[in-house]
Amino acid sequence: MIKIKVPATSANLGVGFDCLGLAVSLYSYASFTENSEKLTITGCDPKYQNTDNLIYQAFVKGCQALEQDVPNVKITIENQIPISRGLGSSAFCVVAGLMGANAWFGNTLNKEQLLDLATQIEGHPDNVSPAIYGQLGASFIDHQDVQTVHFQVHPSLHFVALIPDYQVSTEQARSILPKEMSYQTAIYQIGHAVALTKAFELGDLELIKTAIIDKMHEPFRSKLIPDYPLAKKIVEENSGILYISGSGSTLMAITNDNHTADNIIADIKKDFPAWEAHHLTVDNQGATVV
Ligand code: HSE
Repeated sequence: MIKIKVPATSANLGVGFDCLGLAVSLYSYASFTENSEKLTITGCDPKYQNTDNLIYQAFVKGCQALEQDVPNVKITIENQIPISRGLGSSAFCVVAGLMGANAWFGNTLNKEQLLDLATQIEGHPDNVSPAIYGQLGASFIDHQDVQTVHFQVHPSLHFVALIPDYQVSTEQARSILPKEMSYQTAIYQIGHAVALTKAFELGDLELIKTAIIDKMHEPFRSKLIPDYPLAKKIVEENSGILYISGSGSTLMAITNDNHTADNIIADIKKDFPAWEAHHLTVDNQGATVV
């Protein structure tokens, strides 16, 4: 049996739209075993237990990249990453499927090749890159070649995933964005994004607080999360910093204090008892064969 462990990921981090992504300590697993039938899938909604399943599709793409016939396979999913909440649930599927195929046929694809394949499936690298490599990554695509540079996030930083009991579709969250932006806004974003990566390395909360303020997607997307204003107020009253994780609906709080992280969860739970909340740290390892 081959078992793949993949961390949840939080993309964008405010000003790093479609570029920055962070791996966090919440994990999902997919196991691959030989099977008498073409495909058996367990551990997900029955409507995804077929060849349209994204893990299987990525497994097939991995086999094709390795120039191997697709074997009969049983896929067992143990998923802890909430679906369509901006925590990389589809990146988990893509990375698990590709790495499952790679492990099945002797691990001949390296991480750079896995990242290129994963980005082809996912469409953008900001979630799949940290899912593969861990840490904080800044990615860009040069023709078909995806490149990521990694940043070691300061260990003093804590991340609190505040997960609403409703989804935001990435498709809708992308379609509401303007088609163009001004030079002035582009310059603002570049300066802030570069400063933000340094602030994460330093664990400089004051710098994170100003550098993370986005003008490219959060002002538009916050309207898709009806509880955004109150959640932001609760986090800021606890001296935390809030950004929309990926395309939402998860709101990620950042703090440099253990107790503050727990207080944010307690206060959020008072107003939003149906929300899930996880106190997380950075995953530095990325996906592994366990
Ligand atoms: N960067 C993507 C977005 C992440 O914000 O639309 C969602 O998968």
